[in-house]
Amino acid sequence: MRPITKYIGIIGYQLGHLISPLFQQAAFDALGLDVRYESWETEPAQLQRVIQGIRQPSNLGANVTVPYKEAVLPFLDGLDELAREIGAVNTIVNREKQLLGYNTDAEGFLRALRQDGGFEPEGKRAVLLGAGGAARAAAFSLVKAGGRSLVISNRTLERAQALASDLEPYGTEIYALTRGSEQLNEALATCDLLVNCTSVGMKHSATEDQSSLPAEMIPRQALVYDLVYNPVGTPLLMAAKRAGARVLGGLAMLVYQGAAAFQLWTGEAAPIDIMFKVARKGLKAQ
Ligand code: ATR
Repeated sequence: MRPITKYIGIIGYQLGHLISPLFQQAAFDALGLDVRYESWETEPAQLQRVIQGIRQPSNLGANVTVPYKEAVLPFLDGLDELAREIGAVNTIVNREKQLLGYNTDAEGFLRALRQDGGFEPEGKRAVLLGAGGAARAAAFSLVKAGGRSLVISNRTLERAQALASDLEPYGTEIYALTRGSEQLNEALATCDLLVNCTSVGMKHSATEDQSSLPAEMIPRQALVYDLVYNPVGTPLLMAAKRAGARVLGGLAMLVYQGAAAFQLWTGEAAPIDIMFKVARKGLKAQ
C-alpha cells in the first residue's frame, strides 16, 4: 500500500513571506518523511473551522502565528502546562483526533539565549520591551529560569500590567512601566539583558526603519536580544552594536521553536543545521 502523505500547516492572517514553511519542509525532506508543510492563511471568521479540520487523520498538526496564538485556545482539547501558563499556543498536535496545544516559543527563546547568546538568565536583571504573545513567552521563560528582576515596558501600559500580574507567583521582582518613564532609564542602566519583543523594526512593516529604543538609551553593558529575525541586522541591533553591547538576533529562536515543534509532530530529533541553513537562505532571498 502507498504511504499516505501527511500535512501540517501554519495558521495566521496576512502572513506575507514566511520562513517556517521553507525550513520545516527542508527538515521533513532531509529525514525522508512524506509530510507537506503548507501556509494556511485564515480569515478570523474561519478560524474555528480551520482548527476543526486539523482533526482529519491526514493532518499531523499545525503551527499558529500572528494574530491567533491566544485565539485558538478555546478550540483545542488539551493544553500543555507551559502553554496554559503563558496563555498562548504556537504548536498544535493532532493525537488521534485530540488537538493538543503547546508553546515552543518559550523553549526556543531560552535555548537561543543560552546556546547562541551564551547567557544564563538565573539571578539576572532583564528589561522586556513589549507585552504581546512573544513577550509572554519570553517573560515566563525568564521567571521560570530564576531571573532576579523583570521590567516590562510597553506602549500600552495595561497590557504590561496584566502580564506582570500573571507573573507574580514565580518569585521574580516584576515591574510594569510605560515607555517614557524615568524608572525605565534606571532599569536600563543596571540590566544584564534587554529583549525586544515588539514588532518594531520588522522588514516590510510600517516601522521597518525604527528601533524600539532610542540609541542613547541602549544598555551597553547588557546583552541586547531582538526577537525580530527579519532583517538579521535590525535597527535596534545595529544601534546596540555601535554602542558596544553584545547582540543576539531572533533567527535562532525561530529555528529552535520550529525544531521543538518538529519533534512534537514526528517524535524525531529535528535536523537543526539544515533548518538554519535554509532559514538563512530564505531570509537573504527576501
Ligand atoms: P506578537 O505575538 O508578535 O508578540 P502582538 O501580541 O500583536 O504580537 O504584540 C506586539 C507587541 O509589539 C505589543 O507589545 C505592541 O504594543 P501594544 O501592546 O501597545 O500594542 C508592540 N508594538 C507593535 N507596534 C508598535 C509600535 N509601533 N511601537 C511600540 N510598540 C509596538
